[in-house]
Amino acid sequence: MPMGASHWQMPEKDEYAVIGRGITKSFESLHVLKGMSVNIPRGVTYCLLGPNGSGKTTLMRMIMGLVKKDSGEIYVLDEPLDRISRVYSRLGYMPQQRPLYPDLTVEENLEFYAGLYGIRGHKMAEKIAEVLQVVDLSQTRDRITGMLSGGMYQRISLACTLINSPDLLLLDEPTVGIDPVTKQSFWGYFRNLAAEGKTVIITTHIMEEAERCDMVGFMRDGRMLAESSPDELKKFAGLKKQLKMKVEDPEQKMALLVKEGLEVRRDGDMLFVDIAEASRIREVLDRMKPTDFDVVEPTLENAFLKLSV
Ligand SMILES: Nc1ncnc2c1ncn2[C@@H]1O[C@H](COP(=O)(O)OP(=O)(O)OP(=O)(O)O)[C@@H](O)[C@H]1O
Ligand SMILES: [Mg+2]
Repeated sequence: MPMGASHWQMPEKDEYAVIGRGITKSFESLHVLKGMSVNIPRGVTYCLLGPNGSGKTTLMRMIMGLVKKDSGEIYVLDEPLDRISRVYSRLGYMPQQRPLYPDLTVEENLEFYAGLYGIRGHKMAEKIAEVLQVVDLSQTRDRITGMLSGGMYQRISLACTLINSPDLLLLDEPTVGIDPVTKQSFWGYFRNLAAEGKTVIITTHIMEEAERCDMVGFMRDGRMLAESSPDELKKFAGLKKQLKMKVEDPEQKMALLVKEGLEVRRDGDMLFVDIAEASRIREVLDRMKPTDFDVVEPTLENAFLKLSV
């Protein structure tokens, strides 16, 4: 696909849920997005990663038509942003903090959201039962929303997002405050949605969660630094597998490895060697004859730290 904004053309229909080029956005003198691109295929879980304030929420709000871009092009489900109303009923947005009516019951809040999408009567009752089951809170239906615990409130917020069976979900830190068991079931549910062809865009600061996504988009300094699978992102950050060895004569052995151009760090009798090709691991082990060793895989957290500076 040609990347130059001048001869960029809209890709094949139905290929992407969101696609954007040269997106800029400033809040007065604060330049948040500075010519950002984004490519989110349909039917994937896609994690927007980036330091605090890098513009993840701003981008989500823009995709929802809640924040205007200054310039650039964005297509959401094949519609340009200024015609977003055509696909609005197919979008679901879970904001970082959703205002629910605190004095209403859970069910009444869900009815309110259903009403926004024109879902009524029998269909509404069915849908409310279904989304409450997804978040495993069927028993809270009659409780006053303002009295729910933080995590329960967050789960009801997700239920509201699901009420219109959206094709494209934008979930801004959906698992904050959610217990590990529920989190696990949320992720299973997100994966199922993607398997059904729906697109799930998520922000999170929990790297184990980002690692579960099909794709990661790493935002920094107002741009998209990389968009790829978590494994590819680690490669992009230049991270390698590390061979951790306990050896005798560590000083001498370290010198040998350094002479061969390997990157080595020493801590007491432990050597940490960065290995680009897996095939070299066996060779190094044979020669170094460690008394103990381990191969440490790079983590997405390492990549995040490296790409954030
Ligand atoms: N309506 C607004 N008016 C002024 N500044 C804003 C507005 N919305 C966002 N900003 C600023 O834009 C920058 C990006 O904010 P945004 O909320 O998009 O970041 P984020 O990547 O979601 O961060 P976090 O990881 O903390 O959620 C921040 O400096 C924020 O203060
Ligand atoms: Mg945010």
